Amino acid sequence: MRILLFTGKGGVGKSTVSAGTAAMSAARGLRTLVLSTDAAHSLGDAFAISDGHSESALGSEPVQVTEHLYVQHVDAQRRFEESWAEVQGYLLSVLDTIGVDRIAAEELTIIPGAEEVFALLELRRMAVSGEWDTIVVDCAPTAETLRLLALPEALGWYLERILPVQRKMVKALKPVLTKAAGVPMPGDSVFDALVRLHDELAEVRALLTGPEASVRIVLTPERVVLAEARRSWTTLSLYGYRVDGVVANRIFPAGGSDDWRAGWVKAQDDVLGDVGASFEGLPVWRSFYRPTEPVGVEDLREVAEAAYAWSGSVDPLAAPETAAPFRTETTGETTIVHLALPGLAQWVERDQVQLGRNGDELAITVGAYRRLLTLPAALARMRVSGARVEGGELRVTFSRQTTNTESE
Ligand SMILES: Nc1ncnc2c1ncn2[C@@H]1O[C@H](COP(=O)(O)OP(=O)(O)OP(=O)(O)O)[C@@H](O)[C@H]1O
Ligand SMILES: [Mg+2]
Repeated sequence: MRILLFTGKGGVGKSTVSAGTAAMSAARGLRTLVLSTDAAHSLGDAFAISDGHSESALGSEPVQVTEHLYVQHVDAQRRFEESWAEVQGYLLSVLDTIGVDRIAAEELTIIPGAEEVFALLELRRMAVSGEWDTIVVDCAPTAETLRLLALPEALGWYLERILPVQRKMVKALKPVLTKAAGVPMPGDSVFDALVRLHDELAEVRALLTGPEASVRIVLTPERVVLAEARRSWTTLSLYGYRVDGVVANRIFPAGGSDDWRAGWVKAQDDVLGDVGASFEGLPVWRSFYRPTEPVGVEDLREVAEAAYAWSGSVDPLAAPETAAPFRTETTGETTIVHLALPGLAQWVERDQVQLGRNGDELAITVGAYRRLLTLPAALARMRVSGARVEGGELRVTFSRQTTNTESE
């Protein structure tokens, strides 16, 4: 099963390209689902199927568009109610005890970021269902996507550290606290729900960083858009996601003679040159600005076919050729962790990259983004003996502890 995520700045054509790619996959006879994680769902409009249906018709479950092609908008609210009934029930009982009224309490128990979490959980549910050959994900604009993709690991980190402690504390304090404060203690079902959340998020991450998943960056040939696209490539790699191509959309076709068009064609051409140089090693597919908005399965499929034809040697639906950004290499007593950070020493200054070690964790900071990487057990026992930036990678060398330390 192939998973393709599309991200990019607002309005560049993510939904159009996602929907088109999905239509292309379906036309090949692959069972295809296109799923939107964006709260501003517009897939229905692109396929021209929201009209005549109520909002919820294109909602919680996949809706068929044409043969082999299904579309789904994640309904965060409904998923919340289904998966979090236990936790919400507990929170409500706490708020009730401290006197918050029912309506306000219900608002309060919608945790921030819930939409994103549920989009991920839905993606997992669809991926493990075995019903799909291709899942295309139409993501929200870049910043939100980065938050979304950093979530499984970050929440997992939190849950792994907090859960065991909480559970122990609650066991010990339950009788005392319930009596003294009158605040109900979370029952086992609440913890069970959190453990399930943890496990499911770990699965999502494994799926999305696995060999059959990749992220594609959609951009328009404009300086500001390119700058954001480049940074997102670095950040996606930092979090361990492979980017396997770029779609340059809304390119003005050359021709005609008026200055306005000639000006734009020239300006876009310059930026396209930089796109090629920035994303060296990745296919850059080109999609021209159509005279009308592409709407409906056929239009969308044509947009995608035409774009992908630009780099005819690459099958856009085959497994990604890009290597995983994170890999380890062991020789004798040392292991080198390689983390590809595209753009390093180009649009990312070396001093924006920081590395820290705290027990079994490696904290890697690139600009405003930080990843807390829990080291595999074998590495956690070793010490960091060097780190350097080379060939667009961060290389961290781990060595065995000296025999001295080991015997201590
Ligand atoms: N190649 C193209 N030619 C003509 N119109 C296009 C092209 N690509 C996209 N559009 C139109 O541009 C608008 C924005 O495209 P789209 O909704 O796909 O962008 P988006 O990146 O998903 O936006 P958002 O960030 O709001 O989700 C739509 O009206 C779409 O039909
Ligand atoms: Mg969109």
